[in-house]
Amino acid sequence: MADEFILSIFRGDADGGQEVEYRVPRVEGMVVLDAVHHVQAHEAQDLAVRWNCKAAHCGSCSAEINGVPKLMCKTRLDEYEGQTVHIQPMKTFPIIKDLVTDVSWNYEVAKKIPAFHPTVAAPFRMQQWDVDRIQEFHHCIECFLCQDVCHVLRDHQEKSQYYGPRFMVKMAEFEMHPMDRADRIPQIKNEGGIGLCNVTKCCTSVCPQHIHITDNAIIPLKERVADRYYDPIRNFFRKLGGK
Ligand code: SF4
Ligand code: F3S
Ligand code: FES
Repeated sequence: MADEFILSIFRGDADGGQEVEYRVPRVEGMVVLDAVHHVQAHEAQDLAVRWNCKAAHCGSCSAEINGVPKLMCKTRLDEYEGQTVHIQPMKTFPIIKDLVTDVSWNYEVAKKIPAFHPTVAAPFRMQQWDVDRIQEFHHCIECFLCQDVCHVLRDHQEKSQYYGPRFMVKMAEFEMHPMDRADRIPQIKNEGGIGLCNVTKCCTSVCPQHIHITDNAIIPLKERVADRYYDPIRNFFRKLGGK
């Protein structure tokens, strides 16, 4: 077992850059963010990295580690025993500096989603199956790793007509709430572009919160779009049964 890890960290900005190699002493239980902080403290004080909680809760430290989108604070270095650990910024979003990208496009998408719109009805008892269905969506930490890995956004973001998996989760959270009465189905189909998702499930595979993005959010929303636009009888019965 080596007494140090070898990191190769992207250094650069929108004008270009390259990976630079650093050696970091091994500490038992070290995660990638610890090693990046070591580099920042001892070798490259100007290394830009975004982080906040160091507990996999804030969603700030997203990066690509050996090509896979991950949270740096949740990824142990001993997973890469004997390998050089390549750390790069998320590639789907414009780079600001080093490991920091501009994810503001996501916030612009978020503004377009109609807020929760509850019925003003008499006391309402939420059934357990409704709670179970939407509970996992509340665990999203907005790390945008799913947005980073989705090929629809990665390849076509500038002209994308797809909101991306994170916002399909958000739409599902509202759509499946039995008290919500806003109609988001036309938006999901048209501006939201759910038809561009071809169910590759890469988003689900990188989600650090283990949200079943494709199976529990995207596919049920696709079914609702299909019912509305292509199967009026099923749509009628779905409405009768509530959301
Ligand atoms: Fe991150 Fe998962 Fe939320 Fe996507 S759905 S932003 S991967 S926590
Ligand atoms: Fe993209 Fe996930 Fe669909 S990776 S294509 S949103 S299943
Ligand atoms: Fe908060 Fe990694 S620092 S999720």
